[in-house]
Amino acid sequence: MTPRLVRTRSQLADALAAPAASPARRAVVMTMGALHEGHLALVRAARERADQVVVTIFVNPLQFGAGEDLERYPRDLDGDLALLAGAGADVVFAPGVEEVYPGGEPLVRVSAGALGERLEGAHRPGHFDGVLTVVLKLMHLVRPDVALFGQKDAQQLMAVRRMVHDLDVDVEVVAVPTVRDPDGVALSSRNAYLDAEQRTRARVLSRALRAAQDAAGDGAPAETVRQAAVDVLAAEPGVVVDYVALVDDTASDVAPDHVGPAVLAVAARVGTTRLIDNVVLHLEEGR
Ligand code: PAF
Repeated sequence: MTPRLVRTRSQLADALAAPAASPARRAVVMTMGALHEGHLALVRAARERADQVVVTIFVNPLQFGAGEDLERYPRDLDGDLALLAGAGADVVFAPGVEEVYPGGEPLVRVSAGALGERLEGAHRPGHFDGVLTVVLKLMHLVRPDVALFGQKDAQQLMAVRRMVHDLDVDVEVVAVPTVRDPDGVALSSRNAYLDAEQRTRARVLSRALRAAQDAAGDGAPAETVRQAAVDVLAAEPGVVVDYVALVDDTASDVAPDHVGPAVLAVAARVGTTRLIDNVVLHLEEGR
């Protein structure tokens, strides 16, 4: 099925209002394009939960800081549409910047609060405010019942969940597990920046997560679990670690005696490419 491509708000409104399209349940998958199997997993999960699936493709300038990769961020609308044709999307909304931000950058924005200042937010000030602002705008334009986000961007998922909860947005948020290549590397549009040697080095992130997972499985306390990941990362030359953190659902560090779910999140630079990855763990009472 070839999805219907719409570029403007009014074309989107028409596509959503078409009588044949009036769905009992509408899902949205928001993307910045450069689609890969991870995005397609989101679309397939959306298809299972809704009668109509809308995919948005928009490289949101608001969430890129000065000196980040806004200009070189990969863009390939034709390739994206070809991939989506087989994945079950009904409508693809691919607006230009002027369409999303008529009159320039918005004066009023959504704030991610303290959640947006930790981990990724500490390295990318304003990033999550930019993400939440566009996510809320796209929710208003698409009016979905359910929105699907990848677990890969764990802090983004936390921020969206909190926004929906704190601002009473009537949308169900569903997390979809991270898709990995057979070598363990989490799929990401930014992997395209890695050369062959860097790509091999990038495997260390998932190895570090596995070490933490094993430690948690052995009943180790929080700091031992975190340290297991730190040690694996430290042994890989050419990988500069930004953070290794064991956090709760507000991206705050868990207490040393924490028991229950937690997210082990890592960020590291391989060459000039910054990669993030995470795993959801369950910390048990000390054995
Ligand atoms: O995860 C992304 O691709 C982006 O942050 C999102 C959610 C599409 C908002 O621009």
